[in-house]
Amino acid sequence: MDARVAASLLAGLVVLLHGLTAWALVEVNMEDRVEVYRGDTAQIVSMFSSDDGIGGVSIQWFFVSRLGEKQKIYYEDATMKVVDRGTPFTDRITVNVTAATGEVVLTIADVQVRDQLEFICLIKSLTDGVGEGRTKLLVFEKPDSPTIEGFQAGISIYDDLSKIGICEVKNGFPRPNITWYRNNAPLRGADDVMKVVPSITTESSGLFSVRSELSMKVTKEDKDAHFYCEVTYLVPGGTRMTETNTINITVYYPSTAVQVWVESPKGKIKEGDSIELRCQGDGNMPSSIFTIRHRVEEYQLESNAYVLANVTRLNSGDYECVSLDTDTYEELLGTTSIFVDYLDPAVVAPAGPVEIDQGEELKATCNALSSLQTHTAWFKDGQHVSMGNHLILKDATFDTAGTYQCMVTVPEVDGLETMATLGVNVNGPPEIVPPERTDIEESLDSTVDLICQVRGFPAPTIVWTTLDGKVLETTSEVELEDVITSKASVAVTSDLTAFCNASNQYGADAVAFKIKAIVHTTAAATTVRTSTISSSTVQTATAIPPERIRKEGSGVIIAVVIICILLLAILGSGLYFLYKKGKICGRSGKQDLTKDKSGKDNIVVEMKSDNTEDAILLGVNGDKQPPNNQVDK
Ligand SMILES: *[C@@H]1O[C@H](CO)[C@@H](O)[C@H](O)[C@H]1NC(C)=O
Ligand SMILES: *[C@@H]1O[C@H](CO)[C@@H](O)[C@H](O)[C@H]1NC(C)=O
Ligand SMILES: *[C@@H]1O[C@H](CO)[C@@H](O)[C@H](O)[C@H]1NC(C)=O
Repeated sequence: MDARVAASLLAGLVVLLHGLTAWALVEVNMEDRVEVYRGDTAQIVSMFSSDDGIGGVSIQWFFVSRLGEKQKIYYEDATMKVVDRGTPFTDRITVNVTAATGEVVLTIADVQVRDQLEFICLIKSLTDGVGEGRTKLLVFEKPDSPTIEGFQAGISIYDDLSKIGICEVKNGFPRPNITWYRNNAPLRGADDVMKVVPSITTESSGLFSVRSELSMKVTKEDKDAHFYCEVTYLVPGGTRMTETNTINITVYYPSTAVQVWVESPKGKIKEGDSIELRCQGDGNMPSSIFTIRHRVEEYQLESNAYVLANVTRLNSGDYECVSLDTDTYEELLGTTSIFVDYLDPAVVAPAGPVEIDQGEELKATCNALSSLQTHTAWFKDGQHVSMGNHLILKDATFDTAGTYQCMVTVPEVDGLETMATLGVNVNGPPEIVPPERTDIEESLDSTVDLICQVRGFPAPTIVWTTLDGKVLETTSEVELEDVITSKASVAVTSDLTAFCNASNQYGADAVAFKIKAIVHTTAAATTVRTSTISSSTVQTATAIPPERIRKEGSGVIIAVVIICILLLAILGSGLYFLYKKGKICGRSGKQDLTKDKSGKDNIVVEMKSDNTEDAILLGVNGDKQPPNNQVDK
């Protein structure tokens, strides 16, 4: 019986417990959160079950204000549906109830940032059962693309915390985060060398705008660093990330070494050149100033270059470049050496115009001092006459006279050259160049131009006279390349002799022109005259152009050559004829005999009298051998 009592007690307890749960008849299930983009429509779903069924419940929607107060926005029961007036949701909500499934859906249109609240769905049964569920509405807005701005000013490594840049991202919700990166490493926190200062603005729309300013104490390595910002923001169901462009900064750092060098010219430097010196440190502090020192001189550099114009050998030597940091007063030094090559003007000894007598020898030297190996050559009238610095003129003639040029060059350096001249005069008595013709025939009462060309030094005096001592007028006298050309006009009034007399302190020379005056009465006479004297003599009265004579000479030569060619042709054909004949004779076996170089003593040549074509050589033993075999040996 005890067992029965126990069983019934247990049953009673179960019934009691069942009665207790039956008192809370309504069960409500809702999601923790609903996520939605701003401007979209949110749906908050509440699932309930009640023993009383849909007809026996009232449905109420509340939101929890920021102050934590519950505020009703909707009421519905079997008899009515009421949207509360004067709430932020009055015009934007609808509620749909599906009785069969016990689903209540609160729809909020055009969700705003301020709608990010907790919503409560309260279900009451007629039997006083109550159930409630809560859902948080989370609102999201993707921020605009972030921007980055670098501070343009260069930053010295001696500076304290300096602003690097500002990143900004606008209109996000919830608040986006900005993280700075140097190269690919995030920069977080704040200390002596780095500081990130964020600032947040809430826009009237409720959206957030975030700025972040990075300050740093830069190091030399930062000159190559890239800085950028990463922005993280939430979206429904996750996190998104976006990056800005990169910026770089100008870092000023001091030099550890200074270099000085000749930028131009490359290669050897000669006097007169302009030298561009460059000086540079491996740093870039704007506070550094560069000075170049050479002996006692100092040159201030602008933009790291200095030009030494028109240098001389005195510019040779060491050049120091000093870099001075005006902030730290640290000095650095670089050195280079410059050598300016030179070539002094050439000096000829003996100097000045030199006079030597005919047949004598002249020795001259030409020297130019240079820092480099030189090359000396002598020229006369553009022709190379001698190599080396000695000039020796042996057995001087008037042809030796003239201007000699000594050219000194430095093969290693283009454009380094000097020149000196030496005038040489050869003393000697006048020499009259034999005129083409001294016997002249000319018509009576005409005028003859006589020409006399004279060499000699000192310049001879030229006088034209007649046989009877009368002085003729010189019409012109021209000196060209040591030859004096003197002209005189003679009126042919009768036969006469004119002299060209040239003299100087060393002697005299004279030439006589015999002029025969001819009278020609008819044209025939002229013809006779021309035929007797040859056509060229007609012009002889003035001067015979040498070409004409040469032309005549060449005519004769051509004739001789033609005759020779004809003779050779005849001779050639004769020889050919003989050769043809000789060829037939050659087949008589002579050839084979001469070809036999084998030195066999006893070779006997047998000539067949009837057929010369078949000469057969007989061997040592008198054996017949075919000719081919013999030739092969
Ligand atoms: C922003 O940073 C805060 C603090 O570190 C963090 O709690 C929050 O989740 C971050 N937000 C995003 C969107 O990453
Ligand atoms: C910064 O970057 C740009 C583009 O990459 C480049 O042209 C510029 O020289 C850089 N400036 C410095 C200071 O490194
Ligand atoms: C010119 O030379 C001729 C021939 O040598 C001579 O007879 C004559 O006297 C000279 N005249 C003068 C002016 O020297």
